[in-house]
Amino acid sequence: MQASTLAALKELALQCARSAGELSLKRMKEPFTVEYKTSASDLVTAVDKEVENHVIQMILARFPDHGILGEESAHAEDYEQYDTLWVIDPIDGTTNFVHQQINFSVSIAVYHKGEGMVGVVYDPSRDELFYAVKGEGAFLNDRSLQVNREVSLEQALLCTSVFWNKRAEQIGIDLIVKKLAGKVRGMRLLGSAALEMAYVAAGRLDGYVSMQLNAWDFGAARIIVEEAGGRVTTMTGTPLPYDQKSSVMACNPTFYEELQHFLKSEHTDVSSEN
Ligand code: IPD
Ligand code: CA
Ligand code: CA
Ligand code: CA
Repeated sequence: MQASTLAALKELALQCARSAGELSLKRMKEPFTVEYKTSASDLVTAVDKEVENHVIQMILARFPDHGILGEESAHAEDYEQYDTLWVIDPIDGTTNFVHQQINFSVSIAVYHKGEGMVGVVYDPSRDELFYAVKGEGAFLNDRSLQVNREVSLEQALLCTSVFWNKRAEQIGIDLIVKKLAGKVRGMRLLGSAALEMAYVAAGRLDGYVSMQLNAWDFGAARIIVEEAGGRVTTMTGTPLPYDQKSSVMACNPTFYEELQHFLKSEHTDVSSEN
Protein backbone atom coordinates (compact mmCIF):
# COMPACT_ATOMS: atom_id res chain seq x y z
CA MET A 1 0.00 0.00 0.00
CA GLN A 2 1.26 3.46 -0.88
CA ALA A 3 2.30 5.70 2.02
CA SER A 4 -0.18 8.39 0.92
CA THR A 5 -3.08 5.90 0.93
CA LEU A 6 -2.11 4.65 4.38
CA ALA A 7 -1.92 8.23 5.67
CA ALA A 8 -5.38 8.98 4.24
CA LEU A 9 -6.84 5.85 5.87
CA LYS A 10 -5.30 6.82 9.20
CA GLU A 11 -6.66 10.37 9.04
CA LEU A 12 -10.15 9.20 8.15
CA ALA A 13 -10.19 6.45 10.81
CA LEU A 14 -9.14 8.97 13.48
CA GLN A 15 -11.75 11.48 12.31
CA CYS A 16 -14.47 8.81 12.31
CA ALA A 17 -13.56 7.63 15.82
CA ARG A 18 -13.53 11.15 17.27
CA SER A 19 -16.75 12.11 15.56
CA ALA A 20 -18.46 8.86 16.63
CA GLY A 21 -17.30 9.37 20.21
CA GLU A 22 -18.59 12.93 20.31
CA LEU A 23 -21.94 11.83 18.90
CA SER A 24 -22.32 9.04 21.46
CA LEU A 25 -21.53 11.42 24.36
CA LYS A 26 -24.06 13.92 23.04
CA ARG A 27 -26.79 11.31 22.60
CA MET A 28 -26.06 9.82 26.03
CA LYS A 29 -27.41 13.01 27.62
CA GLU A 30 -30.74 12.68 25.80
CA PRO A 31 -33.39 9.93 26.10
CA PHE A 32 -32.71 6.98 23.79
CA THR A 33 -34.40 3.63 23.16
CA VAL A 34 -32.86 0.38 24.37
CA GLU A 35 -33.81 -2.94 22.80
CA TYR A 36 -32.91 -6.55 23.54
CA LYS A 37 -31.13 -8.44 20.75
CA THR A 38 -31.03 -12.07 21.92
CA SER A 39 -31.68 -11.57 25.65
CA ALA A 40 -31.86 -8.99 28.45
CA SER A 41 -28.06 -9.06 28.65
CA ASP A 42 -27.58 -8.37 24.93
CA LEU A 43 -28.56 -4.73 24.39
CA VAL A 44 -28.63 -2.42 21.43
CA THR A 45 -29.60 1.24 21.64
CA ALA A 46 -30.71 3.71 19.01
CA VAL A 47 -27.32 5.36 19.59
CA ASP A 48 -25.36 2.24 18.54
CA LYS A 49 -27.28 2.24 15.25
CA GLU A 50 -27.02 5.98 14.66
CA VAL A 51 -23.29 6.07 15.39
CA GLU A 52 -22.61 3.12 13.10
CA ASN A 53 -24.56 4.75 10.25
CA HIS A 54 -22.72 7.99 10.82
CA VAL A 55 -19.32 6.28 10.53
CA ILE A 56 -20.36 4.27 7.47
CA GLN A 57 -21.47 7.44 5.70
CA MET A 58 -18.17 9.16 6.48
CA ILE A 59 -16.21 6.20 5.05
CA LEU A 60 -18.29 5.68 1.92
CA ALA A 61 -18.30 9.40 1.10
CA ARG A 62 -14.53 9.12 0.76
CA PHE A 63 -14.00 5.48 -0.30
CA PRO A 64 -17.20 4.22 -1.98
CA ASP A 65 -15.68 0.87 -3.01
CA HIS A 66 -14.46 -0.16 0.44
CA GLY A 67 -16.22 -2.94 2.35
CA ILE A 68 -17.66 -2.38 5.82
CA LEU A 69 -18.20 -4.99 8.51
CA GLY A 70 -20.03 -3.24 11.36
CA GLU A 71 -21.73 -4.89 14.32
CA GLU A 72 -25.16 -3.33 13.77
CA SER A 73 -25.25 -3.75 9.98
CA ALA A 74 -23.37 -7.05 9.50
CA HIS A 75 -25.16 -9.55 7.31
CA ALA A 76 -24.38 -12.76 5.45
CA GLU A 77 -21.87 -11.46 2.95
CA ASP A 78 -18.47 -12.57 1.72
CA TYR A 79 -16.38 -9.81 3.27
CA GLU A 80 -13.23 -11.28 1.71
CA GLN A 81 -14.33 -9.90 -1.67
CA TYR A 82 -13.19 -6.42 -0.60
CA ASP A 83 -9.52 -5.50 -0.90
CA THR A 84 -10.01 -2.94 1.84
CA LEU A 85 -12.38 -3.73 4.68
CA TRP A 86 -13.35 -1.46 7.58
CA VAL A 87 -14.28 -3.36 10.74
CA ILE A 88 -16.39 -1.26 13.09
CA ASP A 89 -17.91 -1.47 16.53
CA PRO A 90 -19.76 1.83 17.05
CA ILE A 91 -20.12 1.31 20.80
CA ASP A 92 -18.09 -1.46 22.39
CA GLY A 93 -19.54 -1.88 25.85
CA THR A 94 -23.18 -1.04 25.19
CA THR A 95 -24.17 -2.32 28.65
CA ASN A 96 -21.71 0.14 30.21
CA PHE A 97 -23.00 2.91 27.93
CA VAL A 98 -26.54 2.29 29.24
CA HIS A 99 -25.74 1.66 32.92
CA GLN A 100 -22.45 3.39 33.76
CA GLN A 101 -22.14 6.04 31.06
CA ILE A 102 -18.39 5.32 31.13
CA ASN A 103 -16.10 2.44 30.08
CA PHE A 104 -17.30 2.16 26.49
CA SER A 105 -15.42 2.85 23.28
CA VAL A 106 -15.59 3.25 19.53
CA SER A 107 -13.53 0.69 17.62
CA ILE A 108 -12.51 1.22 13.99
CA ALA A 109 -10.04 -0.92 12.04
CA VAL A 110 -8.92 -0.95 8.43
CA TYR A 111 -7.74 -4.21 6.89
CA HIS A 112 -6.14 -4.48 3.45
CA LYS A 113 -6.08 -7.97 1.90
CA GLY A 114 -6.56 -9.37 5.40
CA GLU A 115 -3.73 -7.40 6.96
CA GLY A 116 -4.38 -4.89 9.74
CA MET A 117 -3.30 -1.43 8.58
CA VAL A 118 -4.95 1.02 11.01
CA GLY A 119 -6.61 0.47 14.37
CA VAL A 120 -8.36 3.12 16.48
CA VAL A 121 -10.06 2.68 19.86
CA TYR A 122 -11.51 5.88 21.26
CA ASP A 123 -12.80 6.29 24.82
CA PRO A 124 -14.87 9.48 24.56
CA SER A 125 -15.69 9.84 28.24
CA ARG A 126 -11.98 10.08 29.11
CA ASP A 127 -10.97 11.59 25.76
CA GLU A 128 -8.38 8.84 25.27
CA LEU A 129 -7.53 7.98 21.68
CA PHE A 130 -5.58 4.73 21.24
CA TYR A 131 -4.39 4.12 17.70
CA ALA A 132 -1.81 2.35 15.60
CA VAL A 133 -0.69 2.24 11.99
CA LYS A 134 1.09 -0.82 10.65
CA GLY A 135 4.84 -0.34 10.94
CA GLU A 136 4.48 3.08 12.61
CA GLY A 137 3.85 2.10 16.23
CA ALA A 138 1.00 2.56 18.69
CA PHE A 139 -0.07 5.72 20.48
CA LEU A 140 -2.33 6.99 23.25
CA ASN A 141 -3.16 10.56 22.26
CA ASP A 142 0.37 11.82 21.49
CA ARG A 143 2.26 9.33 23.65
CA SER A 144 4.00 6.34 22.08
CA LEU A 145 3.04 2.97 23.62
CA GLN A 146 5.40 0.07 24.30
CA VAL A 147 4.58 -3.20 26.06
CA ASN A 148 8.02 -3.78 27.53
CA ARG A 149 7.61 -4.39 31.24
CA GLU A 150 9.27 -7.62 32.45
CA VAL A 151 6.43 -9.56 34.02
CA SER A 152 5.81 -13.21 34.78
CA LEU A 153 2.36 -14.80 34.71
CA GLU A 154 2.13 -14.77 38.50
CA GLN A 155 2.87 -11.01 38.56
CA ALA A 156 0.38 -10.24 35.79
CA LEU A 157 -2.86 -8.28 36.04
CA LEU A 158 -5.19 -9.82 33.46
CA CYS A 159 -8.58 -8.93 32.11
CA THR A 160 -11.31 -11.13 30.69
CA SER A 161 -14.90 -11.37 29.62
CA VAL A 162 -16.49 -14.74 30.26
CA PHE A 163 -20.28 -14.71 29.90
CA TRP A 164 -21.98 -15.18 26.57
CA ASN A 165 -23.68 -18.59 26.34
CA LYS A 166 -24.42 -21.42 28.72
CA ARG A 167 -21.78 -23.88 27.58
CA ALA A 168 -19.06 -21.29 27.12
CA GLU A 169 -20.05 -19.72 30.43
CA GLN A 170 -19.41 -23.02 32.19
CA ILE A 171 -16.05 -23.54 30.50
CA GLY A 172 -15.11 -19.88 30.90
CA ILE A 173 -15.84 -19.82 34.60
CA ASP A 174 -13.98 -23.06 35.08
CA LEU A 175 -10.92 -22.19 33.03
CA ILE A 176 -10.54 -18.46 33.31
CA VAL A 177 -12.10 -17.59 36.62
CA LYS A 178 -11.33 -20.68 38.71
CA LYS A 179 -8.04 -21.84 37.19
CA LEU A 180 -6.33 -18.87 35.52
CA ALA A 181 -7.38 -16.33 38.15
CA GLY A 182 -5.64 -18.49 40.76
CA LYS A 183 -2.33 -18.26 38.88
CA VAL A 184 -2.11 -14.49 38.33
CA ARG A 185 -1.92 -11.39 40.51
CA GLY A 186 -5.43 -10.29 39.71
CA MET A 187 -8.26 -10.43 37.22
CA ARG A 188 -10.45 -7.54 36.00
CA LEU A 189 -13.64 -7.33 33.94
CA LEU A 190 -14.31 -3.87 32.48
CA GLY A 191 -16.95 -4.74 29.87
CA SER A 192 -15.42 -3.29 26.70
CA ALA A 193 -13.12 -5.78 24.99
CA ALA A 194 -11.65 -3.10 22.70
CA LEU A 195 -10.79 -0.87 25.64
CA GLU A 196 -9.43 -3.76 27.70
CA MET A 197 -7.11 -4.76 24.86
CA ALA A 198 -6.06 -1.13 24.33
CA TYR A 199 -5.17 -1.06 28.04
CA VAL A 200 -2.83 -4.01 27.42
CA ALA A 201 -1.04 -1.89 24.80
CA ALA A 202 -0.85 0.95 27.32
CA GLY A 203 0.55 -1.32 30.07
CA ARG A 204 -2.46 -0.71 32.36
CA LEU A 205 -3.21 -4.41 32.09
CA ASP A 206 -0.72 -7.16 31.24
CA GLY A 207 -3.07 -9.36 29.27
CA TYR A 208 -6.60 -9.97 28.01
CA VAL A 209 -8.24 -13.34 27.43
CA SER A 210 -11.62 -14.14 25.94
CA MET A 211 -13.04 -17.43 24.76
CA GLN A 212 -15.18 -15.76 22.12
CA LEU A 213 -15.30 -12.31 20.59
CA ASN A 214 -16.61 -10.94 17.31
CA ALA A 215 -14.30 -9.51 14.65
CA TRP A 216 -15.48 -5.96 15.45
CA ASP A 217 -14.62 -6.36 19.15
CA PHE A 218 -10.92 -7.10 18.59
CA GLY A 219 -10.26 -5.81 15.02
CA ALA A 220 -8.75 -2.45 15.96
CA ALA A 221 -7.27 -3.20 19.39
CA ARG A 222 -5.38 -6.19 18.04
CA ILE A 223 -3.41 -3.89 15.71
CA ILE A 224 -2.73 -1.49 18.58
CA VAL A 225 -1.44 -4.25 20.89
CA GLU A 226 0.78 -5.70 18.16
CA GLU A 227 2.23 -2.30 17.21
CA ALA A 228 2.97 -1.69 20.90
CA GLY A 229 5.04 -4.90 20.93
CA GLY A 230 2.43 -7.23 22.49
CA ARG A 231 1.37 -10.62 21.15
CA VAL A 232 -2.15 -11.41 20.00
CA THR A 233 -3.40 -14.84 18.90
CA THR A 234 -6.33 -17.16 19.46
CA MET A 235 -6.27 -19.05 22.74
CA THR A 236 -4.76 -22.03 20.93
CA GLY A 237 -1.94 -19.92 19.51
CA THR A 238 -3.13 -19.60 15.90
CA PRO A 239 -3.33 -16.23 14.05
CA LEU A 240 -6.51 -14.22 14.64
CA PRO A 241 -8.98 -13.97 11.76
CA TYR A 242 -10.02 -10.47 10.68
CA ASP A 243 -13.64 -11.06 9.61
CA GLN A 244 -14.87 -13.84 11.91
CA LYS A 245 -15.42 -14.48 15.58
CA SER A 246 -12.60 -16.05 17.56
CA SER A 247 -11.13 -16.66 20.96
CA VAL A 248 -8.50 -14.04 21.79
CA MET A 249 -5.42 -13.75 23.95
CA ALA A 250 -3.48 -10.50 23.91
CA CYS A 251 -0.54 -10.01 26.24
CA ASN A 252 2.87 -8.89 27.17
CA PRO A 253 5.32 -11.13 25.25
CA THR A 254 7.34 -11.95 28.38
CA PHE A 255 4.71 -14.40 29.62
CA TYR A 256 2.96 -15.24 26.34
CA GLU A 257 4.41 -18.78 26.15
CA GLU A 258 3.52 -19.49 29.78
CA LEU A 259 -0.07 -18.25 29.32
CA GLN A 260 -0.39 -20.04 25.99
CA HIS A 261 0.80 -23.31 27.46
CA PHE A 262 -1.67 -23.00 30.32
CA LEU A 263 -4.63 -22.17 28.07
CA LYS A 264 -3.78 -24.81 25.49
CA SER A 265 -3.56 -27.56 28.06
CA GLU A 266 -6.83 -26.58 29.77
CA HIS A 267 -8.93 -25.19 26.92
CA THR A 268 -11.73 -26.70 24.87
CA ASP A 269 -12.21 -24.46 21.83
CA VAL A 270 -15.79 -23.14 21.71
CA SER A 271 -14.98 -19.97 19.78
CA SER A 272 -16.89 -20.95 16.65
CA GLU A 273 -20.03 -22.09 18.51
CA ASN A 274 -23.14 -19.95 18.52
C1 IPD B 1 -19.26 -6.68 24.10
C2 IPD B 1 -18.11 -6.17 24.93
C3 IPD B 1 -17.87 -7.09 26.10
C4 IPD B 1 -17.64 -8.53 25.65
C5 IPD B 1 -18.79 -9.01 24.79
C6 IPD B 1 -18.99 -8.06 23.61
P1 IPD B 1 -20.77 -4.90 22.74
O1 IPD B 1 -19.44 -5.83 22.98
O2 IPD B 1 -16.92 -6.10 24.19
O3 IPD B 1 -16.74 -6.68 26.83
O4 IPD B 1 -17.58 -9.33 26.77
O5 IPD B 1 -18.48 -10.32 24.32
O6 IPD B 1 -20.09 -8.52 22.85
O7 IPD B 1 -21.90 -5.83 22.44
O8 IPD B 1 -20.97 -4.08 23.94
O9 IPD B 1 -20.34 -4.12 21.54
CA1 CA C 1 -23.53 -5.70 21.01
CA1 CA D 1 -18.35 -5.14 20.93
CA1 CA E 1 -21.11 -2.82 19.96
